[in-house]
Amino acid sequence: MYPNVFPSSHPLVLHKVTLLRDIDTEPKKFRELIREISALLAYEATSDLLTMPRDVETPLAPMVGAELREKIGLVPILRAGLGMVEGVWELMPTAEVWHIGLYRDERTLKPVEYYNKLPIEPTVSVCLVLDPMLATGGSATATISVLKRWGVKKIKFVGIIGAPEGIRTLHDTHPEVPIHIAAVDVKLNERGYILPGLGDAGDRQFGTG
Ligand code: PRP
Ligand code: URA
Repeated sequence: MYPNVFPSSHPLVLHKVTLLRDIDTEPKKFRELIREISALLAYEATSDLLTMPRDVETPLAPMVGAELREKIGLVPILRAGLGMVEGVWELMPTAEVWHIGLYRDERTLKPVEYYNKLPIEPTVSVCLVLDPMLATGGSATATISVLKRWGVKKIKFVGIIGAPEGIRTLHDTHPEVPIHIAAVDVKLNERGYILPGLGDAGDRQFGTG
């Protein structure tokens, strides 16, 4: 597809995404699956983070181990990205979480920003942008533009289901940003929903709609 797009081929991810799509999966189970899939994807997405040597004393001997060199920021796109935070945060508990609020205008499908409390100077060196759905790509593309203006040099997108249209838009606008995704689906429908997709990720997590 594109060199910087990484669909997961992990059997656990494929299994859990199928349960996630199921119309009969209720919100409690849906949230649990989002959390688990997000952790598995984040594990894959962080395989190139930099480390530095760290002295450590085991009960038997001193040795040189490793510690993370990068300051990680998790950036969930509200609302649906919120459910992805917990699973990822458990893997990297010192990460900072910076929320970006965007909703898609139902008519134009363009993202509208409504929440952004980033401080003036960047406080992290790498950001993982979290949003389960990459549909037209407008929300992810806009969020990554915000983070670039903030001054973050290393940005990765972690999503669950992507449409070819959204992957193309995100890749064309920010080609250096890796896209880690559990599944690439067929297309968007006339309302900008991913087919076959899973429906509305925000509504299914929060029991709304
Ligand atoms: C959904 C989803 C993404 C966006 C994807 O959010 O969580 O943020 O749509 O669509 P795009 O790629 O076409 O921009 P939505 O606007 O429905 O808001 P919500 O998360 O608050 O439900
Ligand atoms: N947002 C969703 O929640 N689902 C889609 O299919 C597209 C955008």
